[in-house]
Amino acid sequence: MKKTKCKIGSLELRTPLILGSCDLFNNVESIRKNYKDLVGAIVLKTTSREPREGHKKPHMAKFGDNLLVASGNANPGIDAMCKIVRELKDIPLIGSVMEPSLAKEYAEAGAIAVELNLSCPNLEEDIPAQHPEEVFEAVKKAKSLCDVPIIAKLTGWNCNLRQTAKAAEEAGAEAIVVSNLFPGMGFYTGLVEQEGAYKIGEPLLGRGYGAYTGKAFLSGVLLMIQRLRKEIKIPIIATGGCCNDLDSIVQTFMSGAVAIETVTPLYQGKDPSKLYREYLEWREKNDI
Ligand SMILES: Cc1cc2nc3c(=O)[nH]c(=O)nc-3n(C[C@H](O)[C@H](O)[C@H](O)COP(=O)(O)O)c2cc1C
Repeated sequence: MKKTKCKIGSLELRTPLILGSCDLFNNVESIRKNYKDLVGAIVLKTTSREPREGHKKPHMAKFGDNLLVASGNANPGIDAMCKIVRELKDIPLIGSVMEPSLAKEYAEAGAIAVELNLSCPNLEEDIPAQHPEEVFEAVKKAKSLCDVPIIAKLTGWNCNLRQTAKAAEEAGAEAIVVSNLFPGMGFYTGLVEQEGAYKIGEPLLGRGYGAYTGKAFLSGVLLMIQRLRKEIKIPIIATGGCCNDLDSIVQTFMSGAVAIETVTPLYQGKDPSKLYREYLEWREKNDI
């Protein structure tokens, strides 16, 4: 089997398969259940200082081959999440925050890195990841408060990603994530089976709109990464349809990503570790 280790700044992960931030990763049981042999790390649910209930439900709906999401960042707050990190010392956990000041709490609790979620498409239409100066300030602040690697989760939506990625690098980020869910919405037509009671013409998400991910989105992610690779030196972690199937994983690594952050396979009963094992076998077979 090919070597699987992955280096992101000073971080060494046993594999480049990272389970991304989502509503499954706000409790001990679900984190333990999903931490399988080929998972390199898990990113916790994006955390606010105080607990948040999130948007009106439904928070999720089927759309094409993947999901529409608008949870509104429902989470139990930083104290509860740090308690989880202290309890799960044997699992490499990455804290995820929108407020850079919370990086300190996560680092003290034992998180191996902190991801700044500067690109959540479910809260505001105008987000920090669209502004190079806000990206720079957020990374600088988090770096000034702790010694663990800082990863900036950016967006390709409505901004100059080249500039925001450079801002993250100049401020000292160890890596960037490209990108996040992509803003979107959908309507109930009665033609696709959905959980819950809808009337025809109603939006699929309780909030009216939210964000989408899926393999159709992957080709945009590949292009963003391939272009950025020539512009910045820090590692790029890919997210967005990257682990839908073996072909998605292979293409993602071909684009120059050092690692994958994935979520939706977990909601579709697929095992990302199994897909990653298939990727290793594919490399072996093709001598790559
Ligand atoms: C239900 C759900 C909740 C999510 N919550 C967060 C979050 O709190 N913070 C964040 O940075 N990304 C969040 N994401 C985005 C994922 O981390 C990931 O970047 C995205 O789903 C693309 O990867 P995928 O196509 O493999 O799912 C969420 C995604 C889903 C599906």
